[in-house]
Amino acid sequence: MTAQIAFERHPVTLDWHAPFISPVTDYSGETTPATYFRRDIYLERVPHQAVLRVTAVGVVEPWLNGERVGDEVLAPGWTSYRNRLIASSHDITAVLRVGANTIGAVVADGWALGRLGWENKTNHFADRRALSVQLELTDADGSTEVLSDDSWATSTGGTLAASIYDGEHFDARLEPVGWAAPGFDADAWTPAEITEWPAEVQAPMSEPIRRIEELAPAAVIRTPAGSTVLDFGQEISGWVRLRGLIPDGTVVTLRHAEWMTDGEVDFETIRTAKATDVYIGNGAIDQQWEPRFTFHGFRYVQVDGWVGAINDDTFRAVVVHTDMRRTGWLTTSNPLLNRLHENVVWSMRDNFVGVPTDCPQRDERLGWTGDINAFAPTAAFLHDVRGVLGSWLQDLAVEQQVKGFVPWVVPDVLSSASSPTALWSDVAVSLPWTLYQQYGDQKILGRAYSSMTTFVRTVAERLDDHGVWSTGFQYGDWLDPDAPDDNPAGGKTDRHLVATAYFAKVTREMADTAAVLGRREDEDEFRNLAQRVRHGFRREYTTQAGRVTSETATAYALAIVFDLLDDEQRQHAGDRLASVVAKSGYTISTGFAGTPLVTDALSSTGHSDHAYLLLMQERCPSFLYPVTMGATTIWERWDSIRPDGTINPSGMTSLNHYALGAVADWMHRTIGGLTATAPGYRRMRIAPVPGGGLTSASLQHDTVSGRVEVEWEIGDGQGHVVVTVPDGTTAEVVLPLDAEHRIEQVSGGTHEWSYPLDTTGETEPFTMDTPLSQLGADAAVWSALTDVFAKHLPGVPIDATAPEAAGISLNAMLGYIPGEIDGLRADLEQTIAASMKGSSAKEAVSA
Ligand code: BGC
Repeated sequence: MTAQIAFERHPVTLDWHAPFISPVTDYSGETTPATYFRRDIYLERVPHQAVLRVTAVGVVEPWLNGERVGDEVLAPGWTSYRNRLIASSHDITAVLRVGANTIGAVVADGWALGRLGWENKTNHFADRRALSVQLELTDADGSTEVLSDDSWATSTGGTLAASIYDGEHFDARLEPVGWAAPGFDADAWTPAEITEWPAEVQAPMSEPIRRIEELAPAAVIRTPAGSTVLDFGQEISGWVRLRGLIPDGTVVTLRHAEWMTDGEVDFETIRTAKATDVYIGNGAIDQQWEPRFTFHGFRYVQVDGWVGAINDDTFRAVVVHTDMRRTGWLTTSNPLLNRLHENVVWSMRDNFVGVPTDCPQRDERLGWTGDINAFAPTAAFLHDVRGVLGSWLQDLAVEQQVKGFVPWVVPDVLSSASSPTALWSDVAVSLPWTLYQQYGDQKILGRAYSSMTTFVRTVAERLDDHGVWSTGFQYGDWLDPDAPDDNPAGGKTDRHLVATAYFAKVTREMADTAAVLGRREDEDEFRNLAQRVRHGFRREYTTQAGRVTSETATAYALAIVFDLLDDEQRQHAGDRLASVVAKSGYTISTGFAGTPLVTDALSSTGHSDHAYLLLMQERCPSFLYPVTMGATTIWERWDSIRPDGTINPSGMTSLNHYALGAVADWMHRTIGGLTATAPGYRRMRIAPVPGGGLTSASLQHDTVSGRVEVEWEIGDGQGHVVVTVPDGTTAEVVLPLDAEHRIEQVSGGTHEWSYPLDTTGETEPFTMDTPLSQLGADAAVWSALTDVFAKHLPGVPIDATAPEAAGISLNAMLGYIPGEIDGLRADLEQTIAASMKGSSAKEAVSA
């Protein structure tokens, strides 16, 4: 057994002596067979400790004496290879023997040489694969010998082709038996040659990528066209392992897809990625194979060429991603909401294969900065991401330094330079700040400081005389559902309003960072800048009363959450926002920039009921619509699958993008109720806000200070809350709907409260004679009625805020409609009967 040596959370440069060696073949361009490397080592005695350190330009699988070393896959992950290359270290003492030993390695193109990006380009980082292996033998007296020479032989084997996007081809007949063990006849192999590689070799800062879990097929489907399709019931990142007797020369093909349309697998969402694995059998009775140098984002697999029966053991989906520790859980009394949250968790897992990506399936899978910026607070609650995002921030910083800009994707593979862009490039500031809030570790800020300040100063130079970021390309409220399909950046909200609002937030984070690190002068500089941008925003985009130009949910959400308004303006803006979301019938109208904030903006201005209506909406586009369509991950677009079951044909319709799942952060803080009020949860506020008909919720979070648990339940006029906080921390607990409005201060331990609920505000139920203006004042009831109007009176505007609404009831309204509309009265009566007067929170109280 070998053991992988743990990673460090900060960069450690390794003392690297081993040369980089390459096969003699020229690998530029076409995908070619993976390279097999081997060398024999003769040992007079087994050392006290032996450490094997391995890195590669490409992806590498190390072997020793016929055994696979470690359980890491897709090593060394994806970094800015020409600047930072990661070497994994394995304790191999137990596997070494006196006499002959063999070290082997298989290296394929991976991210370093393979095709990446939608521009169909290869060789972004290198023209040749390379391997570098350092063996460190330590004696009992502590003396260490480093074996690092270049006497390696190379050849090829079963892996005929391997590409991250396109999949892997393996011919079992060509795999040399025993190639990685002593005694193998390697006379026909070719000596490797030395190659130069410029990067520093570093120890990993992140957990490795591993096989995490296996799924059996949930169904085996015979399609109308006669294909066999495996449905694994869940979209994952990874691959399929097959097992069985595959006759000599029989070709088995596995094609991976996210969706089925009209009963057949649909490859539309993977664009030009082939996502196809091919296995050619050798006739042995029990063959087992899985790819090792590719991965796919998929739920369905079309299997061609399988000759035997498919039984329980034949196929397994192998879930593959960075082995992060899960740290956050939330469940509620609403199954659809629970599935939404599950989908967020899966999209996170599927998009953390080494680097945080936009999606795991199509011809992208890139470290898009905007996506992780929107999602980072959610990510940091769900998993311990100090390692994987800390490592990625090192790549961001080094590329920023070398290139002079923060790339839109890290590591950068785009053919043109990235200009500074809100929500994308400013991840340089907001991500370290988010990680600091979550983990309370100042070193995160210290390491990123130069990258953060450089970014902020670059943008400061671009502001206009009034402090507005008014020029240059911006993604704006990317993928606003009202943007034209072919122009996702063309949303309703002014792009420079979005940019200026984000920069106001980012400059404040920068000033706070300088304060934490005790950089007084910098702090002054950035506070002044933050003030200037805030004033600029207000001058350009707001009215004195508190309207925000664009009058969109995103514009209001930014102004409110980023604290760009004074108190009076803020309340007015919150009220306007509530009416904007009501007008859209509580369907969603925000993109990447506004979605993470809109529910916060509502609940922080006294409109939690509207926030819940937005969250609970099932009509397209909405948070729950994809759940009702069977989504198992978060979609890139609200309508990636349209209500008729077809894939949105815009070309950007991944079914696995975590960005819009950022609403989970609000769910954790509002439904779960937990917010850190000091970095690392040394102090916290626990204030669940029930709503949306929820009657209970349960949250667990493993913080760096220890485990926090929150459970609440309401019903029968009673509330029940149990809170556990770790020793050494304090929490302010606001008991939800407590008749006495108690706020409790607690410290380490478990605390429990049972109490009568506040029922003031509950009055007479609505009837068919209640004026529309009163019905309209209850967001939940009006939302339900809006659905009825949309069904029976499509296109007829019924405005509860119009002056005449005070004098018209539903009964009166029906009187104005000539003739009877089938089912309208019955639906209205049913809605009214089901309604409870008061907010949706009160609804739950009486439930
Ligand atoms: C990606 C996005 C990304 C965007 C920005 C898309 O193709 O999938 O998530 O942020 O491009 O241009």
